[in-house]
Order: sequence, then structure tokens, then C-alpha cells
Amino acid sequence: MKTVLEVRDVKKVFGEGQAQVTALHGVDLTLEYGEFVVIMGASGSGKSTFLHILGGLESPTSGEILLSGAREQKFDREPYATQYRREKIGFVFQFFNLLSALTAEENVALPLLLAGASKKELRERAQEMLRRVGLSERRTHRPSEMSGGQQQRVALARALVHRPQVLLADEPTGNLDSQTSAEMLELLLNMRAELGQSIVLVTHDPMVATYGDRVLFFRDGKIVREHRNGAELSQREKAFALMDQLRDVTEVGAG
Ligand SMILES: Nc1ncnc2c1ncn2[C@@H]1O[C@H](COP(=O)(O)OP(=O)(O)OP(=O)(O)O)[C@@H](O)[C@H]1O
Ligand SMILES: [Mg+2]
Repeated sequence: MKTVLEVRDVKKVFGEGQAQVTALHGVDLTLEYGEFVVIMGASGSGKSTFLHILGGLESPTSGEILLSGAREQKFDREPYATQYRREKIGFVFQFFNLLSALTAEENVALPLLLAGASKKELRERAQEMLRRVGLSERRTHRPSEMSGGQQQRVALARALVHRPQVLLADEPTGNLDSQTSAEMLELLLNMRAELGQSIVLVTHDPMVATYGDRVLFFRDGKIVREHRNGAELSQREKAFALMDQLRDVTEVGAG
């Protein structure tokens, strides 16, 4: 297997002196092409901080990140950070973060517009992505005219329209009911199958985590456990196994 993303000993300290918080204590990760990795862990364990660093939204205090074997030198500084985000990373958030004045198609096209693509290319690629997420008939609708699940599918299309090397998703189903969450996750699995998309997803929900190949558990800014979802298990069995692991790693004194 080939590695798309390699993270070496990433640390993050916020603030100074009394107010200093170490959010990440040295995190390593190797993500293979087409792999779907889930991150779980208690509130405040550093999951979002880690994702933000991978996405160039936040700079690490130390450590290295390699994409497809190339060390990302200045991905955490402008203007490189913006370029890195636009070209190499796709991000999906809990609150969709669509622009309310734009239609679905315009929202999806935005990353390409910023990258300087032609009008024709914008339209073609945005429409293709909307078709992939099953929203062709909604392309002229604005976010307020769509359900939460539809908005999140638009957000997914926008995150993938420039074919990023890695898709990062922070609680993408946090605002969706369980049925809509399941549809969203099936869609992610499709994208992985059709586009070979590599995915890192953060969730609190064990049912959501059953969709990943493996689950990394964060505790106090470190990965303290790794769990592979048994392919032979039913989804219920996978969820129960994950709940056991989660209970273990979040118990006081565990580690
Ligand atoms: N900008 C910041 N300034 C100072 N401290 C921060 C900042 N962002 C995060 N932290 C701290 O870093 C730690 C990790 O936060 P983070 O948001 O990564 O947790 P999380 O695992 O995503 O939690 P949740 O499950 O609640 O989203 C916390 O102690 C948090 O207070
Ligand atoms: Mg978070």
C-alpha cells in the first residue's frame, strides 16, 4: 500500500506562561491511499486541533507532515497555507459552512473559482460533483432552501471538487439525524470507492465510527489506542466493540 499522508511527532502548544495549554503531545499517523481513518476521544483531547493542523488552518508547534512523500515545508504559513488548503485538502465541518447568498452550484464551484479555473470548467466540474452527491436537481437552490443533509452533501461536493489528496471531516454528522448521517457516510464510502478518496474523520458517535477502516483514540493530546473495525462483524457488533474501547480510554487513570 502507498502512503498519502504521514504525520511525524506533531505537537501543539497554545498560549504562554500560566495560560499555556498543550493540545497535542506528539501525534504520529500514517494514512494509506484510499484509507478511511476515524478519530474518537473525549472533548478537549485534541481531535479538532489535530485536524486543523492537517488542514493548514493551524500551525503545529513542532513536527512534520508529508503528503505523498513530500514534506510540506510552509503549509502552515501564508500564502502557502491557503494554497495548501485549496489544492491538497478538502474540509467538511459540523455546521456545513456554505455561503448563504450562493446557489449549491456556486458554493461547489467556489474553490475552483479561487484557483482561477475557467467558467466552463467551473460549471462542468461543479455539476459533476453535484451529480456524484445526488443533488443535480438542487443546483440552483440556496442553502436555506435545502435540508441539513442536502447542505452537508453540497459541502462534501465543495470539499472534493478540486480532488484533494485528503478529505478532513470534523463531526460532519454532528447536526444530522441518524438516518441522514448514515446516508452521508454511505456517500463517503462511495467517494472512496469511485475516487479513491483518503479520509480522516472525527466523531463522537460509535455508529459513525463503524464506517472507518480503523479508529484512533485520542486522550490528552495523544493517540492512546488504535482499533480496526472487524470486516466480518455486523455494524451493531462494530459499534459495541467501539463503545467498549471508548469507555476504556476515557476512564480516569486509563491510558
Ligand atoms: N485556540 C486555542 N487556544 C487555546 N487553547 C485551545 C485552542 N484551541 C483548542 N485549545 C485547547 O486545546 C485542547 C484540545 O482542543 P480541541 O478543540 O482539539 O479538542 P477536541 O478533541 O476537538 O474536543 P471536542 O470533542 O469538544 O470538539 C483543549 O484543552 C482546548 O481547550
Ligand atoms: Mg473538536
